[in-house]
Amino acid sequence: MNLILMGLPGAGKGTQAEMIVEKYGIPHISTGDMFRAAIKNETELGQQAKSYMDAGELVPDEVTVGIVRERLSQPDCSEGFLLDGFPRTVKQAEALEDILASLDTSLDFVLNINVDKDKLKERLTGRRVSPTSGKTYHVMFNPPKVEGKCDEDGSELIQRDDDKPETVEKRLQVNIEQQQPLIDFYENKGYLRTIDGDQDIHDVFGDIDELLKGLR
Ligand code: AP5
Ligand code: ZN
Repeated sequence: MNLILMGLPGAGKGTQAEMIVEKYGIPHISTGDMFRAAIKNETELGQQAKSYMDAGELVPDEVTVGIVRERLSQPDCSEGFLLDGFPRTVKQAEALEDILASLDTSLDFVLNINVDKDKLKERLTGRRVSPTSGKTYHVMFNPPKVEGKCDEDGSELIQRDDDKPETVEKRLQVNIEQQQPLIDFYENKGYLRTIDGDQDIHDVFGDIDELLKGLR
């Protein structure tokens, strides 16, 4: 099962990815998570990515494609993978075609989670994440059992650096610019499936699950 989850910032990629990997047992490959981990561990990759992420810009294609190529070559991806937030440009999508061809595999679906852009700002500004488990919450739409604490390990929830209002605005603008050409690219190849992301979290998953059941 080789999948891509696409969608604007706040569409629910990470939230749905958690549920998909739990049910289907494929590795979750989020370029955003990989960059955040690299920043936290103060690696060279983290240094390369940080200024772009803080500004709400995309990290250069060469850097992003490089880490995805390396990750997809690992043995745990041979039975399937879920890419979250990659590709984000047509150049990245073309590079992914080459990577998959070299691994003698191909995509099943590109799931595009579609949410009206006016709703995305409140999703992003209300998001809280656990720095330990990585689990994502929302102060109103998906609150933890105990306010401000992760359900799994009780850690204090934090706000992502790029969820500040000024960065949110820029991220949305940058991603909206890239979105349509990427949709057209995957539509033409027949992989695109549009998911209504403007429903309750579990209903969104229900729609995705319906599609994925057919692949088993
Ligand atoms: P990344 O971490 O991927 O950020 P993003 O694309 O901006 O997406 P988000 O993680 O903000 O949103 P999401 O869709 O995962 O939503 P979530 O499920 O959390 O990338 C960060 C940065 O890294 C980029 O800006 C860029 O700089 C760089 N980068 C990453 N990939 C790159 C690439 N390929 N090329 C270049 N640069 C790259 O949900 C959001 C909130 O809404 C949560 O609070 C959640 O609880 C809530 N929510 C979710 N679903 C629902 C629902 N159905 N109803 C109500 N609330 C909901
Ligand atoms: Zn995410």
